[in-house]
Amino acid sequence: MTIAFATCSLLPEGSDDVRTLIAACAALGVAAEPVIWDGDADWSRYDLVVVRSTWDYTSRRDEFTAWAERLPRVLNPAGVIRWNTDKRYLRDLAAAGLPVVPTLWDPDDVPSGWPEYVIKPAVSVGSGDTARWGAGEEERARAHLRSLREAGRTAMVQPYLSAVDTAGETALVFCDGEYSHAGRKARILTAGAGVEGSVRGDATRGRVTASAATGAELDVAHRALAAVPGGRDLLYARVDLVPGPDGDPLIIELELTEPNLYLQHGPGSAARFAKAIAARL
Ligand SMILES: Nc1ncnc2c1ncn2[C@@H]1O[C@H](COP(=O)(O)OP(=O)(O)O)[C@@H](O)[C@H]1O
Ligand SMILES: [Mg+2]
Repeated sequence: MTIAFATCSLLPEGSDDVRTLIAACAALGVAAEPVIWDGDADWSRYDLVVVRSTWDYTSRRDEFTAWAERLPRVLNPAGVIRWNTDKRYLRDLAAAGLPVVPTLWDPDDVPSGWPEYVIKPAVSVGSGDTARWGAGEEERARAHLRSLREAGRTAMVQPYLSAVDTAGETALVFCDGEYSHAGRKARILTAGAGVEGSVRGDATRGRVTASAATGAELDVAHRALAAVPGGRDLLYARVDLVPGPDGDPLIIELELTEPNLYLQHGPGSAARFAKAIAARL
């Protein structure tokens, strides 16, 4: 019995999570190894593929989802991965009555009603091609919108949620449908930094620390996971929430494909995931 933790060629040994999970699986007598998703692996050698640090697929999402669909056995399920790798799934959640960050999809122009706003692509990981714009930056923001459109990408425009500067973003991690632990992620986008600002900043930018979910956050997260098509079989899930203007949690993203699970911030979480993985064999 061997598990493959799918990773990308930039991280052949896998993310920190992968290394932690391999050790936790070994403690249960389960063999596991990192495998590059688009390398030349013989996938029939593995009893189960668990998608982990495949963080390089954004420019070839179709290739990635087709790969997942060809695998004999993959978690999360390939159908969930297809649904979840394009943030247009947020429209399904909003339609199901969930509180989602207000979003304009592929608008013709930059918004006029929000003092600050974020422009980002619908297929993205790690804040790629994402920027925060404000008054006086309309021309640069329009160029950003245009560059996404010219690259054939769906653009999302949202009000900048300023609570991310103070409360930050709460990431609720679920194992086999049950809440495991939470992390708090500090602000990433810097005012005036443009698109380049999404790849550099000060040391506190995007820093993750241990956190605890509130009752309101847990409620939204459970309802969001219940609304996922085919979501009854989720091995792992991360629900990212940011307080809206009234303080109530809004869904910024549902990470069901390749989330960093912040295992270092959840005491016992690596063993919990290893047990859940072993139980799937
Ligand atoms: N509407 C928003 N308000 C404030 N910050 C945002 C907003 N949208 C994105 N961000 C910032 O950009 C980061 C990346 O955006 P996100 O939607 O999580 O995409 P991904 O992580 O898939 O690249 C977030 O972690 C957050 O710091
Ligand atoms: Mg995110």
